[in-house]
Amino acid sequence: MKLILLGPAGAGKGTLAAYISRKCGIPSISTGDLFRETAAQDTTLARKVRDIMERGDLVPDDITVGMLEERLERGDTGRGFILDGFPRTLQQAEALSAVTDIDAVLNLVISDEAVIRRLAGRRICSKCGAVYHVDNMPPEKPGVCDKCGLRLVTRDDDKPEAIRNRLAVYTEKTKPLVSYYRERGLLVDVDAGGTPEEVFALAQKALEQC
Ligand code: AP5
Repeated sequence: MKLILLGPAGAGKGTLAAYISRKCGIPSISTGDLFRETAAQDTTLARKVRDIMERGDLVPDDITVGMLEERLERGDTGRGFILDGFPRTLQQAEALSAVTDIDAVLNLVISDEAVIRRLAGRRICSKCGAVYHVDNMPPEKPGVCDKCGLRLVTRDDDKPEAIRNRLAVYTEKTKPLVSYYRERGLLVDVDAGGTPEEVFALAQKALEQC
C-alpha cells in the first residue's frame, strides 16, 4: 500500500503513521524527520534548512523532491510506504505522480485550537525522536524518553510564532492538495480529533473503503 497522510501541523500524522507502519509492516517516511537529520549537520544546506524550519516555512520544492526521491529508492519500500508530510505543494504532488502511483490519501481533519494544544504539549526525545505529549501521551517518567532514557525537548518550530506561520503556510500551500486528491478519487477524510487509538480505527475503516 502506498499511502499519503495529509493534514496541518499537529494533526497527528506522525503518530498515526507509526500505528499504520506497525500494523502493515511498511516504512513511514517523514520529510520533517529527514530535514531534522539534515539540519543537525554542519553544512551550508543544514543552516539554510534550519532557518526555514525554525520560521515554519517550507523548504524549496527542488530540495524536498530530490530528497524524497532518494529516500524512495532505498530497498525497504517494495511493499509500499506511508508518506508523512509529503507532498505539501502542488508541484511536489506532480513530481510524486511522475515517479509512483498512490493508493490512498488520508486527510486528517482537525480544528486549529486542537492542533495548537497538541503542539504546545508535544515533547520529543533529543536522541531517538520519539514523540510524546505532556497530557495525552506522557512518558512513564516526566521529561525522560521511555525508549532510550534521554531528555525530552520541545521542537524549535513548536514556538507560538512558528506554529501560527505553519498553519498559515498549510492553508495557503498544502490545503489545495485536498481538492487535487479528491478530484482523483484518492482522498478519504478522517476525523483526527479523537485519541490516537480512535483515529487509527477510523483510518483502518477508511482504508478498507479504498
Ligand atoms: P514536519 O515534521 O512534517 O511537521 P508538521 O507537518 O508541521 O507536522 P508535525 O510533525 O508538527 O505534526 P504531526 O501531524 O506529525 O503530529 P504528531 O503526530 O507529531 O515538518 C517540519 C518542517 O520541515 C516543516 O515546517 C518544513 O519546514 C519542513 N518540511 C517537511 N516536509 C516538507 C515538505 N514536503 N516540503 C517542504 N518543507 C517540508 O502529533 C503532535 C502532538 O500531538 C504530539 O505531541 C502527539 O503526541 C499528540 N497527538 C498526536 N495524535 C494525537 C491524538 N489522536 N490525540 C491526542 N494527542 C495526539
